[in-house]
Amino acid sequence: MAILSVSGLAISFGSNHVLKSVNFELNETEVLGVIGPNGAGKTVMLNILTGLLKPTAGSIVYMGADITGKSLYDRGRMGFGRTFQIPRPFEKLTAYENVMVGGIFGDGLSEKAAGSKASEILELIGLYPKAGVFAGKLGLLDRKRLEIGVALASNPKILLFDEVAGGLTESEVVEILNIVLKLKADGVSFIWIEHVLKTMLEGTDRVMCLAQGRDVVCGLPAEVLASKEVSEVYLGADEDE
Ligand SMILES: Nc1ncnc2c1ncn2[C@@H]1O[C@H](COP(=O)(O)OP(=O)(O)O)[C@@H](O)[C@H]1O
Ligand SMILES: [Mg+2]
Repeated sequence: MAILSVSGLAISFGSNHVLKSVNFELNETEVLGVIGPNGAGKTVMLNILTGLLKPTAGSIVYMGADITGKSLYDRGRMGFGRTFQIPRPFEKLTAYENVMVGGIFGDGLSEKAAGSKASEILELIGLYPKAGVFAGKLGLLDRKRLEIGVALASNPKILLFDEVAGGLTESEVVEILNIVLKLKADGVSFIWIEHVLKTMLEGTDRVMCLAQGRDVVCGLPAEVLASKEVSEVYLGADEDE
């Protein structure tokens, strides 16, 4: 069953028509990968889905209800969680405190409840041994883990990842994949944006390619990655990055 249905999503910034018509569905506990060349509008789409940007046209239906007009705050409370392309934790707070703050502000938990939730989350994402380390001192993989941890503190039903695997080695990406699999088993659904195509083969159930403001192709990962649509839009663009 679809947890999210997006139709005719469009947005323009002045004369820059970034999204013209994006259409897709996300099924429950599905991992939908989103690929596309730099500047295709992947982050913009994610910002629209979370309520940070308003679309100029189109609708977003979440668990049967039209949420197109709902605020960022409302969507957070309804179960939308996200990570940012550039992790921005509170550097002078520990990993534990960062996740705890996420629980207090993202899920309205008391300090005590947010604290025990934070311990659980740190355990799940493999960051428990570094619970007391200042976020500013964490390496890239641990910062990415922490991004996911803070997003989890708001108890999301849908997690939106913006290039969490960017800059990580292959074995580090496997660590992220393992977290995704655990969360999926707990009932979380994912939209996972990644510029690097390889990551999408293992971690996703379906992949959609965004280009020229549209969902140019969507289907099984291996088929989409091998499709002529994807080679055309990536060709000469930046496929070797
Ligand atoms: N807040 C904004 N105001 C104006 N233009 C924006 C804004 N956010 C993104 N854009 C433009 O939208 C386009 C798509 O950007 P983005 O979604 O970041 O691409 P990517 O697919 O690489 O994530 C770019 O041309 C960018 O300049
Ligand atoms: Mg982006």
